[in-house]
Amino acid sequence: MSDVLAGSDLLTNSYGESFAQLVRGEGCHVWDVDGKRYLDFLSGIAVNALGHAHPAFVAAVCEQAATLAHVSNFFVTPPQLKLANTLLRLSGAGEDGRVFFANSGAEANEAALKLARLHGQAQGKSTILALGGGFHGRTMGALALTSNPKYREPFEPLPGGIEHIDPTVEALESALDDTIAALFVEPIQGEVGVKPLSEEFLVRARELTAERGALLVIDEVQTGIGRAGGWFGFQAAGILPDVVTLAKGLGGGVPIGACIAYEPAASLFYPGSHGTTFGGNPLSCHVAQTVLDVIASDNLVENARVRGEQLTAAILERSHPLIRGVRGKGLLLGVLLTEDVAPALVAAARELGLIINSPAPNVVRIAPPLIIGDEEIEEFLTLFFAAADRIVGDTP
Ligand SMILES: Cc1ncc(COP(=O)(O)O)c(C=O)c1O
Repeated sequence: MSDVLAGSDLLTNSYGESFAQLVRGEGCHVWDVDGKRYLDFLSGIAVNALGHAHPAFVAAVCEQAATLAHVSNFFVTPPQLKLANTLLRLSGAGEDGRVFFANSGAEANEAALKLARLHGQAQGKSTILALGGGFHGRTMGALALTSNPKYREPFEPLPGGIEHIDPTVEALESALDDTIAALFVEPIQGEVGVKPLSEEFLVRARELTAERGALLVIDEVQTGIGRAGGWFGFQAAGILPDVVTLAKGLGGGVPIGACIAYEPAASLFYPGSHGTTFGGNPLSCHVAQTVLDVIASDNLVENARVRGEQLTAAILERSHPLIRGVRGKGLLLGVLLTEDVAPALVAAARELGLIINSPAPNVVRIAPPLIIGDEEIEEFLTLFFAAADRIVGDTP
């Protein structure tokens, strides 16, 4: 083996070739092993809400690691209870709501899927609906909820009883009958190119699920915790769901997921019905609580909303020939391109020192830390349009 460790020699090939080896981060920047500096406008795919090595985040990790990092779920801990209380308050689930802690978005959705099954069994309803274009994770249950055949087909058979419908009000109205146990939706479908669901869709979904006795499960793994310019994406539609799933930005960089159940779904789990060794560990919970505290004290939800508008206006103002629009909300934006060159644009940006990604061939996703200000936006615009110019220059 050579002295320089390479991912391709050591790791399974599930992520393809790695772009660089990153060794350090500070604020909105990261550095690779060769000392190259990047502006991180992807935040580990909507995770690093406070950027990298935020002093409060670092202090929280150290404090809790030096106090109590892990105990079994035969016990509860103050950080876990405090975080559950905060999430119930922020989500509007209130004192009748209950939280199940997991370690990732997929796991939070597995918990939600189990709630949906328990609800369905209790009510004699066998089918769960999810949306075309939806993404809910890579574990088998979450994959069954995910619509993309490229992700699903190699792993079939997947858990059954799940049907996908178009994300339109018409499709919803014709599919959501009395046999449906639950409907899973994301307020913005991040993985298919940052596509927001209309508020009308969310409102109708709430009305119909309530009328027909189905649970409305909202996957806020990507949109939640300030990312889309509100604590939760569903709040813009003025509705409350039955179940909400969270991960990514909640931990700001430590692995944590949460499944928040509103009454009556809050009463569905019973002893032995679900569990995970690491779920709700005091280390992740204390760090997540600290992330939420900083988001609140530094007005970062509002910052996400305002900076998202600022970024959108600045991108459109340039009238670049490669760009035909911007969609999304807050700091979860998709830049729509006039051609299918998003992967090339992302590569050109990376070469220039900017990290973004392409969830679709003609869409570039921007999801910077919620702490960005004028300086980071200026740096982004310079690098992004230099990359876009390169692509236009290359196009015959
Ligand atoms: C909406 C949504 N749900 C679930 C997941 C899965 O989360 P994780 O990768 O933490 O399992 C993701 C990840 O991108 C997501 O965007």
